[in-house]
Amino acid sequence: MPRQFPDGFLWGAATSAHQVEGGNTNNDWWDFEQAPGTSAGESSGDGIDHVHRYADDFALLAALGHNTHRLSLEWSRIEPAPGAYSAAAIGHYRRVLTAARDAGLTPFVTLHHFTLPRWLAAAGGWLAPDAVDRFARYCRHVTAALGDLMPFVCTINEPQMIALHGYLEGYHPPGRTDPVLWQRVGRVLLHAHHAAVRAVRDAGGGRCGTGLAVQLPLLAPARDDDACRTLHRLLQAEIVDLYLDGLHGPDRGDWLGVQYYRKQWVDPAVPGRFADPPAGVQRTQMGWAVYPDGLRQMLHHAAARTGLPLYVTENGIATGEDTERVDYLHSHLTAVAQALAEGVDVRGYLHWSAFDNFEWAEGYRPTFGLIAVDRDRGFTRIPKPSAHTFARIAATGRLDVAIDPRAQP
Ligand code: FCB
Repeated sequence: MPRQFPDGFLWGAATSAHQVEGGNTNNDWWDFEQAPGTSAGESSGDGIDHVHRYADDFALLAALGHNTHRLSLEWSRIEPAPGAYSAAAIGHYRRVLTAARDAGLTPFVTLHHFTLPRWLAAAGGWLAPDAVDRFARYCRHVTAALGDLMPFVCTINEPQMIALHGYLEGYHPPGRTDPVLWQRVGRVLLHAHHAAVRAVRDAGGGRCGTGLAVQLPLLAPARDDDACRTLHRLLQAEIVDLYLDGLHGPDRGDWLGVQYYRKQWVDPAVPGRFADPPAGVQRTQMGWAVYPDGLRQMLHHAAARTGLPLYVTENGIATGEDTERVDYLHSHLTAVAQALAEGVDVRGYLHWSAFDNFEWAEGYRPTFGLIAVDRDRGFTRIPKPSAHTFARIAATGRLDVAIDPRAQP
């Protein structure tokens, strides 16, 4: 069987600083975790202690066949007070990115993955009048200091989820439920992306390719009636197409990160606007519906609306049954292979996640990792069978190696 993924395809996994590092006490998420009455179930605490274990973690991922790794820089460490940049934090991230590169993992670096420095959150977060300027300044500072180690710079992770979860649904900070703010913040984040692209280009001297990472759920009306169709149109516009159609002009970036998890059914009769998946549809620990062809469809949609080269920057499943992860990997990589065969320019696949980690308001309960972490026994890393499946696919560029049971370790 010929290769289904080209030579040079990027294979890796993703994390974000607050979900793995531990001890991120100076951002809005930490405060949200500690505050009474929020949706956060537990504190991120020590994370998986990646802040100290990054070098061993990168060696393990390289041994498991990864050639890239996506991680995020923690803004609140780098700029603990407005305009006061920490040389120690920059030094830390220089060591982190150097360790990744030296392990053979091309660094794929996110500049903002959900967490805001406490001082910016106190000033109004993304609604503060100077939020975009502040972000651009941080991006410029980081790129001037670390640009030689950042061939891929992802400006913002999932602007639409920051807006939706934080300002409409209220279960991420700042916990607002205001439709006007929801729509406003999404547009601010799009401006912030453009400003970040400019900042990285100015400070990076052409070394850093930039992109936005958008989550693109496959949305569908729950029923074929006017009310469902109307809400579906609104959510499709505000969650998906606003961001894709906003990527035009000189500051749109060089590529697009597509993050896909699930299909969602829109229903105005349901309090949360999204209905439970229909009976019989496979659900994950998050309650999310598994629907692999949605990834193929959303890759087509993203390519058609933007014309940009694509990287799958997140895709994965929360499950305690690792055989489900093996199946999920296989079915979703099949969707990527089909999109490639149909002419979509997809250049890499980064699984969510490398490790079981802190899943925001859900805490440590959902397990998304290719690698388990025993947080009670010295943060021991334990690769799951799916990590070996992933390694075989990455090494061969073929999917038939993944379902052959003899190929399982
Ligand atoms: C995405 C986030 C990522 C992780 C996965 C499960 O929305 O970008 O941090 O929480 O979902």
